[in-house]
Amino acid sequence: MTRPTESGLPINPVYNPTALNDWDPTQHLNAPGTFPYTRGVYPTMYTARPWTMRQYAGFGTAAESNARYQQLIAHGTTGLSVAFDLPTQMGHDSNAPLAHGEVGKVGVAIDSIDDMRVLFRGIPLDQVSTSMTINAPAAVLLLLYQLAAEEQGASPDQLTGTIQNDVLKEYIARGTYIFPPEPSLRLTADIFQYCKSELPKWNTISISGYHMAEAGASPAQEIAFTLANGIEYVRTAIAAGMDIDDFAPRLSFFFVARTTILEEVAKFRAARRIWAHTMKDRFGAKNPKSHMLRFHTQTAGVQLTAQQPEVNLVRVTIQALAAVLGGTQSLHTNSFDEALALPTDKSARLALRTQQVLAHETDVTATVDPFAGSYAIEAMTNDVEAAATALMAKIERLGGAVAAIERGFQKSEIEHNAYRIAQETDTAERIVIGVNRFQLEQEEPYQPLRVDPAIETQQTERIAKLRAWRCHERVDAAITQMQKAAAGDANVLYPMKQALAAGATVGEVCNALREVWGTYTPTHTL
Ligand code: 3HC
Repeated sequence: MTRPTESGLPINPVYNPTALNDWDPTQHLNAPGTFPYTRGVYPTMYTARPWTMRQYAGFGTAAESNARYQQLIAHGTTGLSVAFDLPTQMGHDSNAPLAHGEVGKVGVAIDSIDDMRVLFRGIPLDQVSTSMTINAPAAVLLLLYQLAAEEQGASPDQLTGTIQNDVLKEYIARGTYIFPPEPSLRLTADIFQYCKSELPKWNTISISGYHMAEAGASPAQEIAFTLANGIEYVRTAIAAGMDIDDFAPRLSFFFVARTTILEEVAKFRAARRIWAHTMKDRFGAKNPKSHMLRFHTQTAGVQLTAQQPEVNLVRVTIQALAAVLGGTQSLHTNSFDEALALPTDKSARLALRTQQVLAHETDVTATVDPFAGSYAIEAMTNDVEAAATALMAKIERLGGAVAAIERGFQKSEIEHNAYRIAQETDTAERIVIGVNRFQLEQEEPYQPLRVDPAIETQQTERIAKLRAWRCHERVDAAITQMQKAAAGDANVLYPMKQALAAGATVGEVCNALREVWGTYTPTHTL
């Protein structure tokens, strides 16, 4: 018997027609672009347009990141994806004591409209789609982006892109939360309503499984916990008075792609089918766009090794192929050196070239969902769908995703799975080339990219200049209005936009909301 799948499900050495005895193609499959979208969300998929090549990038100052985006655009990237540094992600300014040592390190430092203007200098925001990996302060960065676009003369209703805005998975796996769940979900609903009125082409959330997968979640856990979080956001928006078809078409998702290519293709196909039924059968969504699970994929960072880093090129290619054969709409391929440091210009270019080879030198864009009808893939799709659906039912019995989070359920499940993976690696039951098999006697030295430590002073000077320039009365009045909205029912984003336009910083806006909503501290002990 071969090893079970990553989800712990059996995988048969040989699949034959009996594997599909109770599988009905008219119910389980249907044509691409038709319910339940197992084969993909569009009828033509990549035969009409390849997936968006959207490389996650950002480090140092806005000017340094702008240069990287210009390079990626020159190399042929078809979508932008902003990585913010931790202070920005946590709603702190670069000159805050808590920011020390982290400014510009894992992403770009953005403190104000001034930085956002520089970040997109020379990039026409009405012609690109931009993803921003920002959660607790997502509203702040979305409005800064809109302000920068409006300064360029772009019309808000033409802006396309996505904010991650998925705080629930931050409580579970990543940790960049600020406020407690209730005000966080309220802010999410405010963003849905604001985008419906002001930014109709903007994807309001990227409900993410990637970080839970990177923390150790299996494929079945990844889609179960992600879709359960999605259901929580849907319930929140409906409770806030929105109709399902008013916001559901602009929900989007984000998953990982592992090297276990067959199970990953099955995972993506199962996720689309589960979500389509959830939206249509459970929430009564009528607009077909509400039933479609559109997603971005990033290749699995946790599978990259520091040993023999060039071997990661092979892993990333296989993972990218899994995402494409699974029907992703947008893809980030990791750079082979990311287990060592920030990608260099060359390794970032090579990561993008990997996607371009898949799109232009292979035949994967020639036909839609080539695995359809495969004994193995359809059986594996059914199996991972059943496992994920059972886990989602368990979360419902616990009272939904937030209640389960507060009991530490998802975190505990992920940690148990992560522990199993670590044990299997330690005993070499799980082979990792270069780590526990085919190691080198002596690893060769590698020169990583370093961020200039002087960035902290640069950013502090920029904030001081901004404060000297702005009208304090205008900022204070708008902040007070925003706090009143936060304490009441009015949508927070309108006064927030006024404050940011007047020169309020990310930290000032988030601190003002901290005063009203407080901050979250985990309640459960495992
Ligand atoms: N037929 C018809 N129409 C098609 C088509 C086809 N074959 N292919 C594309 N289109 C249309 C689409 O309908 C869409 O038009 P619309 O917006 O009017 O509907 C347009 O072309 C663009 O296509 P997509 O929407 O499919 O592709 P995008 O790339 O624009 O959007 C997305 C993809 C998943 C919906 C979006 O939410 C997205 O880009 N997400 C990206 C998220 C991301 O990059 N996250 C990074 C996270 S990194 C992180 O978290 C840190 C970690 O690394 C540690």
